[in-house]
Amino acid sequence: MCGIVGYIGNNDSKEILLKGLEKLEYRGYDSAGIAVLNESGVSVFKEKGRIADLRSIVDESVMANMGIGHTRWATHGVPSKDNAHPHQSATNRFTLVHNGVIENYDLLKRDYLKDVNFVSETDTEVIVQLIERFVNEGMEVLEAFRKTLSLLIGSYALALIDRENQDTIYVAKNKSPLLVGLGNGFNVVASDAMAMLQVTNQFVELMDKEIVIVTKEKVTIQNLAGKTISRDPYTAELDASDIEKGTYPHYMLKEIDEQPLVMRKIIQMYENDQNELRIDQEIIEAMNAADRIYIIAAGTSYHAGLVGKQLIEKVAKIPVEVHVASEFGYNMPLLSEKPLFIFISQSGETADSRAVLVQVKEMGYHALTITNVPGSTLSREADFTLLLHAGPEIAVASTKAYTAQIAVMAILAEVTAKSRNIPVDFDLVHELGIVANAMEILCDSKELFEHISREFLSVTRNCFFIGRGIDYYVGLEGALKLKEISYIQAEGFAGGELKHGTIALIEEGTPIIALATQENVNLSIRGNVKEVVSRGANPCIISMKGLEMDEDSFVIPEVHELLTPLISVVPLQLIAYYAALHRDCDVDKPRNLAKSVTVE
Ligand code: F6R
Repeated sequence: MCGIVGYIGNNDSKEILLKGLEKLEYRGYDSAGIAVLNESGVSVFKEKGRIADLRSIVDESVMANMGIGHTRWATHGVPSKDNAHPHQSATNRFTLVHNGVIENYDLLKRDYLKDVNFVSETDTEVIVQLIERFVNEGMEVLEAFRKTLSLLIGSYALALIDRENQDTIYVAKNKSPLLVGLGNGFNVVASDAMAMLQVTNQFVELMDKEIVIVTKEKVTIQNLAGKTISRDPYTAELDASDIEKGTYPHYMLKEIDEQPLVMRKIIQMYENDQNELRIDQEIIEAMNAADRIYIIAAGTSYHAGLVGKQLIEKVAKIPVEVHVASEFGYNMPLLSEKPLFIFISQSGETADSRAVLVQVKEMGYHALTITNVPGSTLSREADFTLLLHAGPEIAVASTKAYTAQIAVMAILAEVTAKSRNIPVDFDLVHELGIVANAMEILCDSKELFEHISREFLSVTRNCFFIGRGIDYYVGLEGALKLKEISYIQAEGFAGGELKHGTIALIEEGTPIIALATQENVNLSIRGNVKEVVSRGANPCIISMKGLEMDEDSFVIPEVHELLTPLISVVPLQLIAYYAALHRDCDVDKPRNLAKSVTVE
């Protein structure tokens, strides 16, 4: 979702801003822009479409040592040049980029800006016009900025420049992510560290309702009351090469291939010197104190949560409910007496999940975040964090984060069980090692999955995924992967549920991808396949070694039955990848989607 960059220093800012925006492309956007300021004034360049389109209109001859930039994922107003950021005030004195949603923008327009001619349909323009209005009334810029922020209801990460002041970028944040990066003789602003790794790895986190005055020499953080706050920077433990595609044609393929490595990294990060898995004692105490666990997540992370429920209930014997974050806030179930909340989020920034976290913290409950991004909002605001150690995930379609989430929840379940003296009849380190090897075999079978994808999906308009138990949950994820990147309408169903309505959609040639990795339901899922085949469906059965039958399209290596989702999802990720490729879709940046969904 929208991304922000800013630079103030001694070098020309254009290339730094454009490169920064390129690193934010993965978040999803539909237009982009930059504004740079020099002694001749502000130059704004913005364009609908890709950063490459923006690059082509930037005037190379304009040199400026400061500027701000933005990628926009449309919320208020269609994707267009007019609605793209930066936005300017009526006299063009102030120029602003914004990430987030201002809920009361209409009211503010009515109450304060009746006479202003708006050029865009965005909520953002209200902010920049308000600042100018208050300055025109005699306020200092900082005071006008502060006054404006005090009127805003909603979420924002903002960077503002003033034509009359080439020394300062004004920054503020509430609910939307924003960092300030520190350099020698320059400072930067970015939605995430990746955008500015090109120039620094020293970053300062910002908290909600903070203002930052950024000059090339100094970064001053204040609260809304004007009190200065001191905070130490941290070193972003990211390697610039982690965020490069290398020789891969797409990030998604690279990230699918990284899964065996991620499994091994997770084992390494959670193992102690005695080769035992370990988790912070306070997290295990919180697990043991809970009479019920509530997993809250969205999208792929929700699907990982469904598998996590099975792992925690079967291994650690604690009841678990899994909820979609965007529903939970206003549709809260009757909670148990001692709940523990687990938030699963690759980005750690998902606004729907964050809204629930704020709510349950206010209710006085403990929360654990499982995330890939250290220092992310959900990590900072929860009581405890478990990291995925999956490395940056750039492709919009989540792959390695899903398997990492499941592996970390397996470790959490195992360590909790042992702390409760519940016998665990498998060695998880050994089993995850087997999983890593099996993933490698699957990643080496790409040609076969390309072939399956071509055979089953090249002409279809829809596709159904079926499975029972844990396979059903993986089917949901397989369907999400396929629809989000190939735009084939795909749905996952519990094998036994299809005949209660959806079977009406089966016609001659409809592809059905069935998972058969669970011994106890192997025969029943095959029965469900027969039901659809006799109505014309074209079945692709993916089974596990030991359960295979002649009609199967692919047999995955055998792993522990609780860990099969880590393996069975890989063919589905690859089938989705090739289906998107065959249809000439933009695999890494599918239409309408954002990597980090920072609005509710
Ligand atoms: C799908 C996908 C999304 C995310 C969802 C939650 O491939 O990536 O469904 O899983 O937007 O995001 P996080 O995990 O960052 O909270």
